[in-house]
Amino acid sequence: MSRHPVTFEPSGATAWVDTGQTVLAAGRAAGVLIEATCGGRGVCGMCGVKVLEGTLAPPDRDELAGLTRAPAGVRLACRARVVGPVRVRPLIAARSVQVSSGPRVTGSRLVAGVDLGTTNVSAAVVELAGGREVGRATVPNRQASFGADVMTRISVALEGEANALTAAARESVAEALFLASGSAVGDIEQAVVAGNSAMAAMLAGVDSSSLATAPYVAPETPDTVDPGWAALRSSATLRVLGPIASFVGGDVLAGLIALDVASHRDPVLLVDVGTNAEIALWAHGRLTVASAAAGPAFEGVRGLTGSELVNSIAELRVRGTLGADGLLDTASPDVFTGEDGVRMVRLGDGDDAPILSQLDVRSVQLAKAAVRVAMESVLRTAGVDAARLARVWVAGAFGGALDPEAIVGIGMIPRAVRDVLEMPGNTSLAGAVSVALSGPARSTELLLADVRHVDLPNDPAFTRRLMDSLRLEAEDRRP
Ligand code: FES
Repeated sequence: MSRHPVTFEPSGATAWVDTGQTVLAAGRAAGVLIEATCGGRGVCGMCGVKVLEGTLAPPDRDELAGLTRAPAGVRLACRARVVGPVRVRPLIAARSVQVSSGPRVTGSRLVAGVDLGTTNVSAAVVELAGGREVGRATVPNRQASFGADVMTRISVALEGEANALTAAARESVAEALFLASGSAVGDIEQAVVAGNSAMAAMLAGVDSSSLATAPYVAPETPDTVDPGWAALRSSATLRVLGPIASFVGGDVLAGLIALDVASHRDPVLLVDVGTNAEIALWAHGRLTVASAAAGPAFEGVRGLTGSELVNSIAELRVRGTLGADGLLDTASPDVFTGEDGVRMVRLGDGDDAPILSQLDVRSVQLAKAAVRVAMESVLRTAGVDAARLARVWVAGAFGGALDPEAIVGIGMIPRAVRDVLEMPGNTSLAGAVSVALSGPARSTELLLADVRHVDLPNDPAFTRRLMDSLRLEAEDRRP
């Protein structure tokens, strides 16, 4: 079988692959992140590449169906097969890398925390003595070329790509640690990784298939993994915070540690927003947790982050452009009907103003309803009234940028907790750093001593409650 070079612009990265390999596979081999939201099923169109030079095998029927509206010369990287040398440019540029650094005492001992998120991986490197941060970096999770969300990636793993997903997670963590440490990754003595249940399993190279079907049991994840792949020194320790239950992962545990939840006498609640909403209530010395699929809204849409999307929806409600039922009002001058007969709204003036569709609004409705139902289920199970909560933290990589008024205004969070609502940002990363600095505290044992998991996906009332919570309004305005 002959091999051919596939070159990706603008970086010029090249991989040699066998005839018949997909451009997406070549991208993975070349270290080029091509977003493959649907996991390579040919339906999302996110993996489009422009062919700049050379030819690919003619598109098959599935690819043609996915290309109906694509400009000439564009192919789907997940379907297009290599038959000779070719040069391409992904249509969607890979998300950017963010790095910041501070001073470091020469020769100081370093430890690191890592938040292994589904979309992004963040690392913070701190001095062991005193905990001063010497650097921080956020990079895209390279698993994005296997699918946008956890469930797609688990099914891709089941189809034989489990090792590739583990490699992608490890490359992302290694890159974040390398950048956050200012290339001094060999000086890190301990790194602690917090991630959702599937991410932790994949990083550790553990079978994640038990999360694919009911009863969605979290796989056992080893406490430590070999640090070699992260270029850490051989004496370094690389810890992975294990899941609490099912989809409530080590990222939530890290958040609870960062917020010192176990020291609270009154009931407190942590909401971690993402494609999976995770809720943890600490009340009467006991942890009650639940998770619910929130869909892609918190990932954002064209030109808007997830938090900007939610904040925009709340703003449209205030202006009256959007009804509580989630329908865009065609009487509004900003609302128009798109090619497919779908209502759209332009957010602002100018040609590059973001445009939201009725479907985007629906995705926010589903996401906010999932959060609300999960939160209410946890409170009901523990017998705690929302008005008695002493603190409600809305955290997560996206949570920190949400506007408290917006999430109360659209009914994601009850108005009764508005005065105790805080947005502490990425508590998963903060918790991972805290464990790296001082080891698992006694509070961790307390938190995990008696955990009650509310099994929402198997609750027959869940779907009805979800439908009842779709209205975009604070509960005190409901009829
Ligand atoms: S069309 Fe979705 S990844 Fe290619």
